[in-house]
Amino acid sequence: MAELLAVRGLRVDFATDRGPAQVLDGMNLDIETGEVVGLVGESGCGKTTLARAILGILPEGAARIRAGEVRFKGTDLLREDPGAVNDRVRGRAITFIPQDPFTSFSPVFPVETQIMDLMKWKSPRARNGGGPASILARYPRARHRADREAVLEILRAVQIPEPARALRRLPHEFSGGQRQRLMIAMALLPRPDLIIADEPTTALDVTIQAQILRLLRALVKERGVSVLFTTHDLGTAHEICDRVVVMYAGQEMEAAPTDAFFGRPAHPYTRRLLMSVPSPGGEIRDIPGEVPSLVAPPSGCRFHPRCDYATAECRDVRPALRALAGAHGVRCHHPVDAPAGADP
Ligand SMILES: Nc1ncnc2c1ncn2[C@@H]1O[C@H](COP(=O)(O)OP(=O)(O)O)[C@@H](O)[C@H]1O
Ligand code: SF4
Ligand SMILES: [Mg+2]
Repeated sequence: MAELLAVRGLRVDFATDRGPAQVLDGMNLDIETGEVVGLVGESGCGKTTLARAILGILPEGAARIRAGEVRFKGTDLLREDPGAVNDRVRGRAITFIPQDPFTSFSPVFPVETQIMDLMKWKSPRARNGGGPASILARYPRARHRADREAVLEILRAVQIPEPARALRRLPHEFSGGQRQRLMIAMALLPRPDLIIADEPTTALDVTIQAQILRLLRALVKERGVSVLFTTHDLGTAHEICDRVVVMYAGQEMEAAPTDAFFGRPAHPYTRRLLMSVPSPGGEIRDIPGEVPSLVAPPSGCRFHPRCDYATAECRDVRPALRALAGAHGVRCHHPVDAPAGADP
């Protein structure tokens, strides 16, 4: 498979009352074409910040990118002209499914108005971008008709019943699950290369979550679209991801194909996460110890105050990433070499 996205050494600080919080600290991430990658980690570890940094929508003023690259199809988006990223990448080649579908639609316009508005600028048929001249441009009738057909087709694909009638409804007339199906439809419409789905079903009932995520996986696999899927739910990651990356305090700690991740986890933190899950599926429960301060993070390995395997080296020296067999990477001085379940 070909590389689609490569995040390298990304450092992002947030201004806080106590000084800059180092929320991403040398974060790396790879996504190949057509791959569904799960980004897992406890709440506050930086998943949303990474998603927003890739999309170029970090909160202005509060966040500062201090170092690193976000290479998408070979171009570093952090150094690309912002207008070009807005025209060609954000909302087109990379689309977003946010955590809360309730905030993504305006409550006062029918869904059709809002989707067609998006298509006017971001449909694969729109040749000019969103520059000042095009704001006044009309929506050519033939393109409008073709785009509307594409919208109806995608609504059928996400299994919204009676799509033509559904389009006339207001957002609040859809259930939470239906609204999230709409978000998936909208994320697929511009025919993106990559969809970033940030805990897309956390607000929903567990059974509906599973249905929607299976549907998302089937639709992206059919279309060859890559997905970065953030979650704090290991069971979901196991079910829908090709590869899993685990994040802790702003760094990737382990990345591996899903089978190896669950079968031969090598990082002490990953093993603790897996032990904290009550059954083969389910949510991460609290693991002992406190999530570290990001204003004054621990020296050496950021996990050392909570790690059973920590040595003096772990306290003093930041571990580099090391490659294990089979596209398996781990950031640890003493990776565990044993199948899952073999801890003392
Ligand atoms: N706008 C902000 N200002 C200051 N700190 C922030 C802001 N957004 C997020 N953070 C901090 O960044 C860290 C990572 O947050 P986030 O990326 O939302 O994590 P996750 O999505 O994994 O729960 C947290 O410590 C959070 O408090
Ligand atoms: S580097 Fe040391 S402290 Fe960090 S996870 Fe590995 S063994 Fe534990
Ligand atoms: Mg988040």
